[in-house]
Amino acid sequence: MIEPKPLQFHHYQRREDHPDWSAIHEQAVAEARAIAPLIHADADDTAADKAADAIRKMKGLAKAAENYFINRRRFRAGSHALRPMYFIWTMHYTCNFRCDYCDDHRGNAYYDLPDHPMSFADRVRMLKIMRTGTSAVYFCGGEPTLAPELPVFTDLAFHLGYHPLMINTNGFVLHQALKRPEWRRWLRQMDIIIVSLDGLSLPRLQKMWGIKAVEQVLVNLLLLRELKKVADFKLVVNTVVGEDSVDMAGDVLDFINDLGDVWFVPVPVNYHGRDAEGFAFERDMIVRPDYQAFAGKLLERKREGHLLIGSYRILDLLLQVRPYLCLPTLRPHVDPDGRIAWPCRAPKHVDPVYLNLLEYPNVDACWAAAHRLKSATDFHGPGPEQCGDNCAWMQNYTTARYHEFLTDPLGSGIFSEIRDFAFRSR
Ligand SMILES: C[S@@+](CC[C@H](N)C(=O)[O-])C[C@H]1O[C@@H](n2cnc3c(N)ncnc32)[C@H](O)[C@@H]1O
Ligand code: SF4
Repeated sequence: MIEPKPLQFHHYQRREDHPDWSAIHEQAVAEARAIAPLIHADADDTAADKAADAIRKMKGLAKAAENYFINRRRFRAGSHALRPMYFIWTMHYTCNFRCDYCDDHRGNAYYDLPDHPMSFADRVRMLKIMRTGTSAVYFCGGEPTLAPELPVFTDLAFHLGYHPLMINTNGFVLHQALKRPEWRRWLRQMDIIIVSLDGLSLPRLQKMWGIKAVEQVLVNLLLLRELKKVADFKLVVNTVVGEDSVDMAGDVLDFINDLGDVWFVPVPVNYHGRDAEGFAFERDMIVRPDYQAFAGKLLERKREGHLLIGSYRILDLLLQVRPYLCLPTLRPHVDPDGRIAWPCRAPKHVDPVYLNLLEYPNVDACWAAAHRLKSATDFHGPGPEQCGDNCAWMQNYTTARYHEFLTDPLGSGIFSEIRDFAFRSR
């Protein structure tokens, strides 16, 4: 039942160029009321649906546990060719936005890249192959919600026992997509929806994202928040913190914390190889007082128990871009044509090797072939044969967390973090 409460703000202070929140909220509620009867709500679940979902989650947990023991053995034997925690599947490069910071980890904006997506049959096969090596998938792009068959692939992933099913989206077309019959079960099946939102200033977002109707993202974020009442999923906001947008990131943090039922994750902007030395130049931003004030406020909020992804320590490491051990095979990117850059997409000093996962019967066979071509062991580091950077993506820092878990399972504190994210009611 969509029974909205008015938005109330405690931390957030509206600025002149921010939207009229009552109008945005009203629009979101109207959309939610139109969409709720069209979608499969949790309450529509039959006993068979509930059992299928419980089995999916159990299968996901079983795969994560199996991978943990396999990875521990490999790590102890000196191999960093580890089974993935999840695949990041770039479904296509197509996008309806033109974000000024967009970077494919190799210095290109996704929307500038020529698209060669796999056939429908190959994508189905890709999902089956990826599932041999992990239980989790992160649908990404370009803009994944523009792929007409997205709900077919998420449905297949759901029935293949993937858990969690995650998506990163700009959210712009969701109010239209969710009205289509083929999207009926989509929200019910997704576990985590990550919406990109980098500020609340309408004119600055228009400039940053290269589109006019930026309010639609805000409407659709609040729409998802309303629909969370009928279909349970975690809603996360991802904010890129750039040189010119530190103040905007602070506004988003305040706004999301005030909503109280949406998670927040920050990412310092990454620029692959665009400065003179080929290193990310977010480093200049990190030392600035306004950035440090933002980082301090965020960590304080973490201490206060607000919904922020990542442990206090990982957030601190990420926000200060502190050195860490990156294990890139834990979070491989799959390109639209099925290729994987091994062991990482983003090295500065050396070129990755490329293999097409479709040419292998399973992930282990592909990993073994790739590792023979280029060793993944100790790939991260400053040496001449090493990657040459410390990329500041949250996904990289989570591999450092997994490394702690591999070497010191009880001391890593990962269980309390998983409990915090997975079992908190929101
Ligand atoms: C490439 S986008 C694809 C999904 C979708 N189009 C979106 O923007 O949410 C995946 C995530 O990477 C983030 N991103 C893109 N370029 C970035 C950069 N240079 N530094 C940090 N994050 C970046 C986006 O904000 C988004 O959260
Ligand atoms: S919406 Fe995502 S893929 Fe599209 S331009 Fe922005 S960051 Fe890049």
